[in-house]
Amino acid sequence: MIRNRDNFLFFIPILITLIIILLTSLLMYQLRQFGQTYLTETEKELQVDVKQVLYVVEPLLKLKQYSALTNYCNEFKDEKIRITIIDNNGKVIADSNTEINKTDNHLNRPEIKSALSGKPETVIRYSSTMQSEMIYKSVPILIDGKKYVIRVSVSSHNISKTLDNAEKNIYLTFFIGFGGVLLLTLYILIRVRIPFNKLQQSAIKIASGNLDTDIFVPKNGVLWELSRAINVMSKQLKRQIKNMKKLENFRSEFIANVSHEIKTPLTSILSAVEMLESLSPTNKTEIKCLQIISEQSNRLNTLIQDILSLADLEKRQIFKNRDFAELTISSTVENAISLCQGVINNTNIELEILENTPIKIFGNSYLLEQAINNLIVNAVKYSQTDKITVKSYIENNEIKISVKDYGIGIEKDECSRIFERFYRIDKARSRELGGTGLGLAIVKNIVKLHNGKIEVISKPNQGAEFIISIPII
Ligand SMILES: Nc1ncnc2c1ncn2[C@@H]1O[C@H](COP(=O)(O)OP(=O)(O)OP(=O)(O)O)[C@@H](O)[C@H]1O
Ligand SMILES: [Mg+2]
Repeated sequence: MIRNRDNFLFFIPILITLIIILLTSLLMYQLRQFGQTYLTETEKELQVDVKQVLYVVEPLLKLKQYSALTNYCNEFKDEKIRITIIDNNGKVIADSNTEINKTDNHLNRPEIKSALSGKPETVIRYSSTMQSEMIYKSVPILIDGKKYVIRVSVSSHNISKTLDNAEKNIYLTFFIGFGGVLLLTLYILIRVRIPFNKLQQSAIKIASGNLDTDIFVPKNGVLWELSRAINVMSKQLKRQIKNMKKLENFRSEFIANVSHEIKTPLTSILSAVEMLESLSPTNKTEIKCLQIISEQSNRLNTLIQDILSLADLEKRQIFKNRDFAELTISSTVENAISLCQGVINNTNIELEILENTPIKIFGNSYLLEQAINNLIVNAVKYSQTDKITVKSYIENNEIKISVKDYGIGIEKDECSRIFERFYRIDKARSRELGGTGLGLAIVKNIVKLHNGKIEVISKPNQGAEFIISIPII
């Protein structure tokens, strides 16, 4: 998700960078094209100029009229073009812009070299004589067996400078644009991405139940409003949860108080029944009535005990008062079995421990024994099995405790419901056996207190396996 958001956030700077690179390349290309065209055009013009100069110079050279040649060249003194006539030794015979005795030997000038070897040439180079960049066009002519070079040139200083400036400006625009993109990216990173990630982390913590998380609220910027809204929302949620916890606590306390209040008269009833029974009544009706009072009072007593156990577990969960200590799972399993040994001994059921891991964990051994005991007693009471197997083992960093029977099993729909309070599959039979329907709800709460979970794997007539999983920390 973060990757997608980053792609989205940085898409715009990347796009702008690409556009800048594209535009710069296009402008540079256009500029080069322009330079090239200018050069070609100038070359053509120089070509025409050379032809015209040749037309005048050739006969003068033939007649060796060098002063006329100098006069002709001097006529171009103030023109844009410069005319130079050089002999085969590189000596300047006439030049429109400089006095010939001040010019050095031209034999090494590339355009002269080339022309003397018979090839007309166009060269752009810096002229030390003119102290400017020039475009030279040189052609050879042969007069009475002697080679001369006619060179016509024009300054390219202005256009070169213009092109150079344009190039510099393009580069400058590119770097300014690039700098702008860098600043934009930094802005997105500092003002959007980092605060967004911090805000997301806070939101994840709140979503996982940690409502004391401080929400990161940036001082300003695009996320200010959103952060503030989440902050307000989390505070309201905290208040609501506090109220709900209060109500829940009130409810548990009320139930516990009522149960306690019922317990006192119930104990008196039970001891009165015991006293009457000790008098060994002989009247059949009296015996029957006493039996009913005794049975129902005991049922009520069990119900009250279970309700109190549930209320106690809920309270422990809310106040995190778990009374945890180091315990060895194998011992807890053995203790739970010995708790229900009496019930098993009254049946023909065989109980077998298949595997028992002596791993130490932090937990409430009394409650865990009660949970395992509950599962075994259920198997004895409801499954009609002849065998129960118990095992404890480690799997995926969890300690698993399994209680399995091979009896009537549980329908799929019932499997998810049996952990609900007061839910019994066969109400009449369960009541007959003294069940309140709270046993598995208590087991579920005990496991929850250990941050674990309970599941049942069962199919009709194929037995049922209850598995408790507790994470090993
Ligand atoms: N091993 C099992 N095989 C078949 N049915 C079962 C098994 N264990 C539980 N049940 C069914 O699930 C119902 C709920 O069990 P639970 O332990 O919550 O209540 P209970 O045993 O009726 O009451 P209590 O445990 O409070 O005495 C039982 O009434 C029974 O119908
Ligand atoms: Mg039970």
